[in-house]
Amino acid sequence: MPTGLTKEELNALIEVGKTVNAHLDLDTVLESVMSVTTEVMKVEASSLVLVDDETGDLLFHVARGAQAEAVKPIRMKWGEGVVGWVVESGKPAIVNDVANDKRFYKAMDESSGFQTRSILCVPLVTGDRRSGAIEVLNKLGGEDFDEHDLLLCEAVASQAAIAVENARLHRQMLKTERLAAIGQTVAGTAHCIKNLLNGIHGGSYMIDRALVKDDRALLTRGWGMVKKNNGFLQELVLDMLTYSKEREPEYELADVNAINQAVCELMAQKAQDKGVTIRWEPNPHLSQVVLDSKGIRRCLLNLVSNALDACEPGNAGHVDVRAEVFDGDKFDIRISDNGTGIAEEDKDKLFQVFFSTKGSKGTGLGLAVTHKIIAEHHGKISVDSKLGEGTTFTISLPLKRESDFS
Ligand SMILES: Nc1ncnc2c1ncn2[C@@H]1O[C@H](COP(=O)(O)OP(=O)(O)O)[C@@H](O)[C@H]1O
Ligand SMILES: [Mg+2]
Repeated sequence: MPTGLTKEELNALIEVGKTVNAHLDLDTVLESVMSVTTEVMKVEASSLVLVDDETGDLLFHVARGAQAEAVKPIRMKWGEGVVGWVVESGKPAIVNDVANDKRFYKAMDESSGFQTRSILCVPLVTGDRRSGAIEVLNKLGGEDFDEHDLLLCEAVASQAAIAVENARLHRQMLKTERLAAIGQTVAGTAHCIKNLLNGIHGGSYMIDRALVKDDRALLTRGWGMVKKNNGFLQELVLDMLTYSKEREPEYELADVNAINQAVCELMAQKAQDKGVTIRWEPNPHLSQVVLDSKGIRRCLLNLVSNALDACEPGNAGHVDVRAEVFDGDKFDIRISDNGTGIAEEDKDKLFQVFFSTKGSKGTGLGLAVTHKIIAEHHGKISVDSKLGEGTTFTISLPLKRESDFS
């Protein structure tokens, strides 16, 4: 029996090998593999069947030939038809006269309108995992399928099986990574929430005691604690929502000076409590800029709040907010402080979620959220810091005027 491959067949196998190694997506690889197979095996129709991960059903992932579109929606079970037998047994099958083979599944031809005479079917196997089968139907010229065809089809199937297995492993890896990321996020957030709830619990306890003792000073302190932690909790939830959502900036015409002013006013109480001076300077060139003002406000609140945290009491702390146009089509906002500065080894971690050096007082979400919002604006954020001297965060954004949009 002649089983030596012809030059054309060898070329076809090389092409299949190259396609599998080209790192394309699975659908493209399998479509192209089956196109080569149909041509080189000189058959009327072919299909590549895959086991559905969830249901275990056999799905016609690729179908070629006159009735291909009618075949695609059909689902089969393990053991059903020749293809079901091949997947279940893990063995190939040559059926040159379907009328005389019990395994043949007539209903398939009835629903697709195709007339099957002969079938060659080989399983897709990697290790002991059976992931599907390749099936070719009706050799052109009415010849029988032989050992030579079987060899050729098995060579193609071994390559296709690798592609299918690689894709499965890749899906599994992504799922594992996603689960690990979710686990880490849940642990980080739960930790922050627990601290804030402890604060609210402590405040409530004080209020209870104050009510019993009719102590107004204690009542005020307790209520202050509840309000403060409640405010943190709101910030945390807002940051978490911003961080988790894929969003496009909501662009509108805004006044950068007004945003800076609002942020500094909001932070004034915190600054006063710490004896820190906040200064900001208006810039007349930035009173009409197109940006997502809520998003940028959120970033500035995070950056100014961090700058205030970094200022040490009794050290004449100051925080400066300054906006400047540069290169004609960009502007930056700088937030500088004369606080603690950032240690060299922390600089790489600043924008990671949950990185914080503030213990129970930090969430580690502020800079991660800020980075995300700035990236969504196609801008950049950078940091310049010296330990013991202070820190400057600079956000650079594209300068868009209303006229750019008309
Ligand atoms: N202006 C700053 N000066 C010194 N350290 C800073 C400054 N801004 C941020 N950091 C450092 O970056 C860390 C992460 O900041 P952030 O993401 O806002 O989280 P959090 O403020 O909750 O700790 C802070 O814990 C701090 O160590
Ligand atoms: Mg912060």
